[in-house]
Amino acid sequence: MAKYIVLLGPPGAGKGTQAKIIAEKHGLVHVSSGDLFRENLKGQTELGRKAQGFMNRGELVPDDITIDMVRDRLKREDCVKGALLDGFPRTPAQADALEEMLKDFNGKVDIVPYIAVPSEVLIERLGGRWTCRLNGHVFHEKFNPPKKAGICDYDGSELYQREDDKPATVANRIKVYFEQTAPLIEYYRSRGLLAEVDGTLPIEKVTEKLMAAIEKAQ
Ligand code: AP5
Repeated sequence: MAKYIVLLGPPGAGKGTQAKIIAEKHGLVHVSSGDLFRENLKGQTELGRKAQGFMNRGELVPDDITIDMVRDRLKREDCVKGALLDGFPRTPAQADALEEMLKDFNGKVDIVPYIAVPSEVLIERLGGRWTCRLNGHVFHEKFNPPKKAGICDYDGSELYQREDDKPATVANRIKVYFEQTAPLIEYYRSRGLLAEVDGTLPIEKVTEKLMAAIEKAQ
């Protein structure tokens, strides 16, 4: 049976940072809805054009567009053993849609690690984030600096600051998270799938706790 892990947490909680590490350790494909949208923006596709305004304002892209995009990604051959989902689902309607689509892929959500981080920490994290252009590796100027400023440690590509990490957009992303995504904490807790992890710990400690929660669920 295919394995599906859903990483839940507010913007800047460390979902992308942890997903890259855990996906590699578990041999799972990392499927990030935000990265999929950003690839479409870069490629100036129709989907990218539809998503751009929502992303720049820090709002959620409508459910129908997002669900179709993720379903298409999960259908691909490399996801046959499952996936580590990062940033999806983000609304109860997306969570319902995920449950339905996974039936077609011979799977179900196995565990939902929730990386808990308070708002004031998120603002500092997003303000200092630098992302690599080639593969999306994530750094922080204070908490996880690259060896050489502006250059990715892993692939040597340029580091950039995301358009939606500007203070006003960050504030809206956090507000939208509490209004529209935080209800998923109860959604998954009530199904016995939630595993809460303290996301204020150093990156390596958060990884340890996430790995322990995932292993326990197997
Ligand atoms: P998306 O790209 O998913 O952004 P997000 O959820 O806001 O999450 P981030 O990528 O900002 O944060 P993260 O939790 O991955 O943290 P990171 O590891 O980078 O979405 C962007 C937009 O796309 C949305 O606003 C929306 O418009 C659209 N979208 C995407 N999915 C959608 C969906 N399902 N439905 C509708 N619309 C959707 O870490 C942050 C920083 O902190 C880094 O600098 C990192 O180095 C640092 N850090 C990480 N962990 C630690 C730690 N433990 N200690 C100290 N620093 C740390």
